[in-house]
Amino acid sequence: MSAKIIDGKAIAAEMQEEMKGEVKALKNKPGLAVVLVGDNPASRVYVNMKKKACARLEIYSEEHKLLRETSEQDLLELINKLNVDEKIHGILVQLPLPDHINEGKILNAIDPAKDVDGFHPINVGNLVIGKPSFLPCTPYGIQQLLLKSGIRIEGKHVVVVGRSNIVGKPVALILLQKAQGANATVTVCHSRSGDLSYYTKQADILIAAIGRAEMIKKNMVKEGAVVIDVGVNRVDDPSSERGYKLVGDVDFEEVKEIASAITPVPGGVGPMTITMLMHNTIKAAKMQKDIR
Ligand code: GUN
Repeated sequence: MSAKIIDGKAIAAEMQEEMKGEVKALKNKPGLAVVLVGDNPASRVYVNMKKKACARLEIYSEEHKLLRETSEQDLLELINKLNVDEKIHGILVQLPLPDHINEGKILNAIDPAKDVDGFHPINVGNLVIGKPSFLPCTPYGIQQLLLKSGIRIEGKHVVVVGRSNIVGKPVALILLQKAQGANATVTVCHSRSGDLSYYTKQADILIAAIGRAEMIKKNMVKEGAVVIDVGVNRVDDPSSERGYKLVGDVDFEEVKEIASAITPVPGGVGPMTITMLMHNTIKAAKMQKDIR
């Protein structure tokens, strides 16, 4: 048996096509500001992809590229300006930030109504109590990917490997919600869990968000499980022009032999993250129009 390959790229394209119509029907053009500090190569790629998605959907976007040496104060001042800029409905500060900048302080400074990443403590708190306004894009994308692929989440045992604030913790909370498209039983495991495969083998839906290339092997997965790979790892590949290739946290070739469905890397979760960012930006624009 070989798993069904979940085509995130196609699902994302279809959702974005719908959103395009939604944007056209709006009186106020949604606006997104993307802030990048420093020149992390992966971050630069992500920021460019976000810019292109905005252009496709006719969402206004502006990019603020700041030097690595930028002070925390200067970054806070930029955020304060964007918070009151009426063209801008969504603000995204690309993570990670350089070490001399306090990430918590920066995320706290973003107006929660413009927090399209869903990282502000108010939005995180709302997610915890089941009153979400903005859901973090990657976890939200994972939920949509499962639903659009016709995979039932309710009553299933979801095992998440990884406990980051960007993916592991929020995806666990989203799928745990007492809500349609959720209602899962959720286990979160991580680097200190001990025997990881003891947990992963119990998963009906396994979500790998560890950041370690091809760590999830066939013998860690239950037959027929759905496997969602959130990892994006660069590994050396002398045969490629760039000198590297991207692989997930799951050993795709091995695990596809035992899973019932699996996401590829690239082309699985990644395109969904950007799609949900577009969704959140449109939602922010609608909410802010109602207030003004
Ligand atoms: N870095 C990695 N993923 C993300 C994300 O979803 N949002 C932001 N702002 N930074 C990230």
